Amino acid sequence: MLNFSFHNPTRIHFGKNQIRKLSHEIPRDARVLIMYGGGSVKKTGLLDKIKIVLKDYDIGEFEGIEPNPSYETLMHCVDKVRNENYDFLLAVGGGSVIDGTKFVAAAALYNGEPWDILKTFGSGITEALPFGTVLTIPATGSEMNSGSVITRHSEQSKLFFTNPHVFPFFSILDPELTFTLPKKQIGNGVVDAFTHVMEQYMTYPVNAHIQDRFSEGLLLTLIDQGPKALKEPENYHLRANIMWCATLALNGLIGSGVPQDWSTHMIGHEITALYGLDHAQTLAIVLPAMLTVRKADKKEKLLQYGERIWRITQGDDESRMDDTIEKTKEFFHVMGLKTRLSDYEIPHEGIDAIMTQLGRHGMVLLGERQDVNPAVCRKVLELCY
Ligand code: NZQ
Ligand code: ZN
Repeated sequence: MLNFSFHNPTRIHFGKNQIRKLSHEIPRDARVLIMYGGGSVKKTGLLDKIKIVLKDYDIGEFEGIEPNPSYETLMHCVDKVRNENYDFLLAVGGGSVIDGTKFVAAAALYNGEPWDILKTFGSGITEALPFGTVLTIPATGSEMNSGSVITRHSEQSKLFFTNPHVFPFFSILDPELTFTLPKKQIGNGVVDAFTHVMEQYMTYPVNAHIQDRFSEGLLLTLIDQGPKALKEPENYHLRANIMWCATLALNGLIGSGVPQDWSTHMIGHEITALYGLDHAQTLAIVLPAMLTVRKADKKEKLLQYGERIWRITQGDDESRMDDTIEKTKEFFHVMGLKTRLSDYEIPHEGIDAIMTQLGRHGMVLLGERQDVNPAVCRKVLELCY
């Protein structure tokens, strides 16, 4: 096992009606800005319920944080926070709203040009406003981590930053809040969480048996519960298992003490920035191709994953690895996602455009061994087509 330091300060309140805890968690004298997306929280009645819990608070609202939250929109929110002196933020929504809130929390107190937060991957952040979250879509793990991904449309960039100052103070995880999700978002969430596990598990062995077993537990649970949740969207127990899986998939626990890949995510971000695909749609395309191209590097873990997750034990190593990758693809199809760039009518020249963007953003030596160079990325993208 590799050396690691692990600290996760986010308090989780999990279960039915946990939004009541908001009034325990937010200081009574805080000036609270509730931040949300395109309106689902109004339609579902969640916003009204939150306002009832916070009836004795001084609150304001910021609406309109879009999926793949944009710098352009969020800077309006930064101005609002600064001009109206909010000192506590409450994100109500999915990964996009939570990521946007993290950016605003840091940018509101940042000396200098806020886009530099992204350009320096968050290393320049020295403080941030406190914030909590009410999660409405299990997918990203943003509710219990210190990462955020922001898009700047004017330069077609989708970049991430991370910093310990942007861990949420608390997150409310009520599985009932996910009953209203469209099927597409259920599929997206499961595939995103699945890929988060794979980015931390599917590398090379370092004798980290407990991390492997935790990861395999999350993968097996997603494979079992994900398709059922598509059929029974109001089954509380299915939703609860998926929700907790997605949080545990990216809260630092399974990634501690092991090598990590993330090349699928970095390529996926460029595809979203250029062509607007949902985050999980890009992962379902890139991950199978990435595993295929890098079979030799990932051989030991691929065989382990095939055997323990998909029960593939017959045949030579090569055919076992191929069958394993095929099973992974089939699972993405079952969850309703497509697995080729051409399925989204992206022209073949798009590969050049994606390669150019990767170069511009310094994404040239990716993967657990930093050997996923532009030639490897191009091979992967050709296979995605
Ligand atoms: O905007 P509203 O109207 O609220 O609708 C949203 C949105 O259209 C809707 N929705 C959310 N909860 C709902 C609901 N509709 C009905 N009922 C509910 N309960 O779902 C749509 C998608 O929401 P979004 O927040 O964009 O989805 P997700 O949670 O998948 O977040 C994706 C973003 O997170 C980033 C992605 O890149 C992408 O920008 N990621 C963040 C990570 C992190 N911070 O650690 C890691 C991930 O790898 C990922 O990159
Ligand atoms: Zn992701």
